[in-house]
Amino acid sequence: MSEYRNSIFHRTSVRQYQERPVEPQKVELMLRAAMAAPSAMNQQPWEYYVVTCRETIERLSESTPYTGCAKGAPLVFAACYRRECLRPMYAHIDMSASVENLLLEADELGLGAVWMGIAPLEDRMQTVKEIIGLPDGLEAFALIACGYPVKEQEQQDRYDEARVHYIK
Ligand SMILES: Cc1cc2nc3c(=O)[nH]c(=O)nc-3n(C[C@H](O)[C@H](O)[C@H](O)COP(=O)(O)O)c2cc1C
Repeated sequence: MSEYRNSIFHRTSVRQYQERPVEPQKVELMLRAAMAAPSAMNQQPWEYYVVTCRETIERLSESTPYTGCAKGAPLVFAACYRRECLRPMYAHIDMSASVENLLLEADELGLGAVWMGIAPLEDRMQTVKEIIGLPDGLEAFALIACGYPVKEQEQQDRYDEARVHYIK
């Protein structure tokens, strides 16, 4: 089992990046992965902002106490969603599936990324909304810093057999 490798069993949160920019083709593949996610009634509430502007990245890195690692990233995605979608109560769940897909694709492409939580905290959502300049009706869900990792990291093995319950 330990030899089995796909991105699910390789991805870790990467917070230090080389200065090297991320190629536009790879950015598109990550966005394609994000939009390949399942969503309630296939409502696809997502809108993605791709931020490479240094000044904006710096402001985003200061938007919460936990986003400092974005400062050195060549690229930050702001994962946003439409407030008015078919099933608003599922929007955050849909966005989680989408962000995880993006993280996994980043790993596939030899990149590293970290999910930085914004929603559901209203003050953080408002701060990011202002920095990005989101239009009415769009809300910030998460920031994802991305780039080529400075170092290789091993994933923690968190499998816990005690948390598996069989009903036969
Ligand atoms: C909803 C959510 C919010 C997170 N917010 C942050 C964050 O603000 N800053 C950060 O550095 N990491 C953040 N993380 C990453 C977690 O710290 C990380 O996934 C966790 O420690 C497990 O490590 P791993 O991703 O390397 O497996 C967040 C992850 C999730 C799923």
